[in-house]
Amino acid sequence: MTVPTDSTAMVGRDADLAELRRAFDRAAGGEPSAVLIEGEAGIGKTRLLREFLGDVAAYADVHVGRCLDLGTARSAYGPLISILRSIVHRVGVAEARKAVGVGTEALRMLVPELGDGAAQRDLTSPDALRGAVVALIEAAAERAPQVIVVEDVHWTDDSTLGMLSFLLRTLQSGRVLVVITCRSDDVRRGDAVSRFIAETTRARLIERLPLRRLDADATRQLVRLIAGDSLTEAALERLMERVEGVPFFIEEVACCAAGPLPDSLRDMLLVRFDQLDDDARHVVRVASGGEGMLSHSLLAELARLPDERFDDAIRAAVRGGILSVDGDQYAFRHALLREAVHDDLLPGERARLHHAYAEALEERATSLDRCDRSSLAHHWRLAQVPDRALVASVAAMQEAKSRFAFASAARFGELALELWEQVPHAEVIVGLPHVRLMRQLGSLLRNAGEAERALVVAERALAEVDESTEPAEHARLLRDKGLFLANLGLPGVMELFLQALEIVDRAVDDDQLHATLLNGLAGKYMLASMPREAIITATQALEIATRAGDAREISVAHNLRGTCRTYLGQLDDAFADYREAARFAPRSNGGAELRYHVNYSDMLALLGRHREAFEVAEAGVVRARELGVERASGTLMGQNMVEPLLTLGDIDGVKARLSAVPIGRPQVLNDQYVVLTRIRVLAWQGKVDEVERLREEWMPSLRRTGEIERQAWYRIIEDEIALAVARGQWSAALDAVVEMTEDKGFVLLHAYRLLLESGWLVAEVRASGHSTDAAVAAIRRLWAVVPSSVRDDGWATMLDSLLDPSIDALRGAIDASEKQDVPAIMRGVTRLELARMLVASGERGEAQTVLAEAATVATAIGHVPLQESIAAFGRASGVTADGHVKDDLELTARERQVLELVAEGLSNKQIGERLFISAKTASVHVSAILRKLGVATRTEAALVVARR
Ligand SMILES: Nc1ncnc2c1ncn2[C@@H]1O[C@H](COP(=O)(O)OP(=O)(O)OP(=O)(O)O)[C@@H](O)[C@H]1O
Ligand SMILES: [Mg+2]
Repeated sequence: MTVPTDSTAMVGRDADLAELRRAFDRAAGGEPSAVLIEGEAGIGKTRLLREFLGDVAAYADVHVGRCLDLGTARSAYGPLISILRSIVHRVGVAEARKAVGVGTEALRMLVPELGDGAAQRDLTSPDALRGAVVALIEAAAERAPQVIVVEDVHWTDDSTLGMLSFLLRTLQSGRVLVVITCRSDDVRRGDAVSRFIAETTRARLIERLPLRRLDADATRQLVRLIAGDSLTEAALERLMERVEGVPFFIEEVACCAAGPLPDSLRDMLLVRFDQLDDDARHVVRVASGGEGMLSHSLLAELARLPDERFDDAIRAAVRGGILSVDGDQYAFRHALLREAVHDDLLPGERARLHHAYAEALEERATSLDRCDRSSLAHHWRLAQVPDRALVASVAAMQEAKSRFAFASAARFGELALELWEQVPHAEVIVGLPHVRLMRQLGSLLRNAGEAERALVVAERALAEVDESTEPAEHARLLRDKGLFLANLGLPGVMELFLQALEIVDRAVDDDQLHATLLNGLAGKYMLASMPREAIITATQALEIATRAGDAREISVAHNLRGTCRTYLGQLDDAFADYREAARFAPRSNGGAELRYHVNYSDMLALLGRHREAFEVAEAGVVRARELGVERASGTLMGQNMVEPLLTLGDIDGVKARLSAVPIGRPQVLNDQYVVLTRIRVLAWQGKVDEVERLREEWMPSLRRTGEIERQAWYRIIEDEIALAVARGQWSAALDAVVEMTEDKGFVLLHAYRLLLESGWLVAEVRASGHSTDAAVAAIRRLWAVVPSSVRDDGWATMLDSLLDPSIDALRGAIDASEKQDVPAIMRGVTRLELARMLVASGERGEAQTVLAEAATVATAIGHVPLQESIAAFGRASGVTADGHVKDDLELTARERQVLELVAEGLSNKQIGERLFISAKTASVHVSAILRKLGVATRTEAALVVARR
């Protein structure tokens, strides 16, 4: 019998290998890259990878993580752990600790050699773990190119997938190549792996390398390599037909190609197996129950053969090309063989085998080295012992959760719920009521980013609540459902919090829960613009949190109250609250701290203190870095820096920071806020098409959120105005402002800057010859509602000068616009309007200077619509030095007549009456005139007349 060996040359894969090498070259040049080698079982993914790694091992550090076939019981961070340990081993513990910094505590949960004793979970966070993984890889890549391999990702756990996505998104530079292999026939549509592949492909984070079947030439070549030249042409033809270009099958049957070929796929796989003697077949069957490498002692114990017979059996299996030996461990030569043998077991036989595995694993577990709960769950399940599988699943769930592997933990939670049905008295055996398990599953799903499923689970759990349910449990469930709804931007949150509070008031003695619920409710009041209710509720929360000594809730309560007091213009009290929020935040283990920075910086921005707002957000980013969460929640904070920065006109700073924030999913609230900012930035840059693309995808969910969160509502309006401005649709932009002023809801400070900036819109609409009276009245009405403690004299001067322009007022406004914190566009807008006034009063020389200044401002801040408006006016008025101003030579006699009347300020209707034509016809003439003169507005056209 011919046994395939690794030394058989690889055939037909030159192009694929070249592609991998190119990806490596890119990575080695500092551009992080990722390749997915995909294809059916036995097509040669591992083989190609081996050839490639053989090539690059001399130039790079290679770290391999293998995923094991554990069915649904996939071990959390399975392949990642070996990769990380390999990196730490290569970099050295001291160096790794230095590179990862505070994140070491988190990383120790996966790489124990980084410290002594158990890692302290409460000193760290999921974000810190993610940050630590990236930091470690980046540090290693400084030393040498890193090749990170994840083999057989089709079997991997969700937590590894989550980390991989994060890694691919986050790595901006560094000599890192990630190579993933995936058996495409084992990926089901819609499962986590297929979603991972779809998402990373769509985001162009991964390059796909599908392996095709070998063609006739390559197949022939491979068969000859294995079976030699002895084969007749007829036998070769027969064989080629059966193996269909799959190298694994070629290997399996090339040995017996001379005789009759097996007729089923199964038989083809088991050709070699069937040729073994009884002992060897027995040992191989036993081995098929294990996953991955099997130690000699375990396999020998389970096989129950005398030593000598066991050894002979192993030898035969190795010789027959079924098993391979590595040190004192055994493995199948190929996973497909293991699957075939395992599938071939009789049902009773299979259950008994896994029973033996499970017992052996439990026996081997010591108190120090507990056995892997996930493989235990896997074996007990296949052993059909549901109660022990249930206990192991719950344990695996807790273990995964303690390592922040929420998605994996959730899978075990789901497995446990499934097993629960088969176990009488499950509650007693597990020591946990069914609803509690459901609640845990819900929060795991939410933490894993599966908010929709979390909600479904919470709803099911609530449906199970009856009089036997503990009131505290019931209250927590209501709270959780509320949180999940809030995450998804769905309504109904407030009612749930109120219901939960009612239960706690009546029947639960738990100050911490009580304070959390009150703060949650206060937060909802705040977002719904009910600041008075929010202040009362936050004050209650504060009292209870103080009694319980809960620094986090104390800080959050002050934070919420401070925000609402700001809305009401009670600035002294508000700042006192923020001081307290800041004082307690550091004792909250991170959570309240970032929240403080986000909210305080928001409030400063709303008050027009943009510079400070930026500084507070920046301090938050620094703090996020210290906490090791810079790359995760820190990005949201970086996003928070962008808003004030944009208002201040630092477009380069904005672009640099924004590019680091990935666009997420429309269902996720935080991502929605990121997109709202992105739209504002794009509109500022005049990128209308990109804005429209984003809006198409995001508007439905943004609108939904806007109905619940008033601050989002204002941001949506702001974006709408910005888009209209970018399109040059001034009336539409002004209409949006007026619509905002007509809303009956509570006026948030978000309106404050929008009103100031709407002065520009009024000026533009006026310049185009349309009436602005109603809009001006509406703007003034709302302006008066902004608390007087907030309204700034300089801002009032600027707004007035635009609503009711005069040369003097505008000169004053330009002075005011020079102050530090003023929204940067105001510097350009006030100058543009002054230039208009100067031209109208014939002071063209000064107009030219002022307009040039305006253009300089607009260019410096990168505001494209403002640049365009300034340029258009310059052209139309002939003020711009290099402007090509056309005059009216091309106009027909009729058009000249119409132009004279336009210059008199007549409307289309009036022109029609004077010239005995319809208003419609007049408007057609006006459009032709504007086009021929190359101007955008009637005012500009009138200026051409004035210049003659
Ligand atoms: N191009 C090739 N030339 C020669 N032998 C090959 C080639 N491709 C694969 N083989 C051999 O075929 C067998 C199956 O290949 P391999 O293990 O790489 O498949 P795979 O795609 O990784 O399968 P799985 O999905 O089961 O992991 C191996 O023994 C391998 O050495
Ligand atoms: Mg493989």
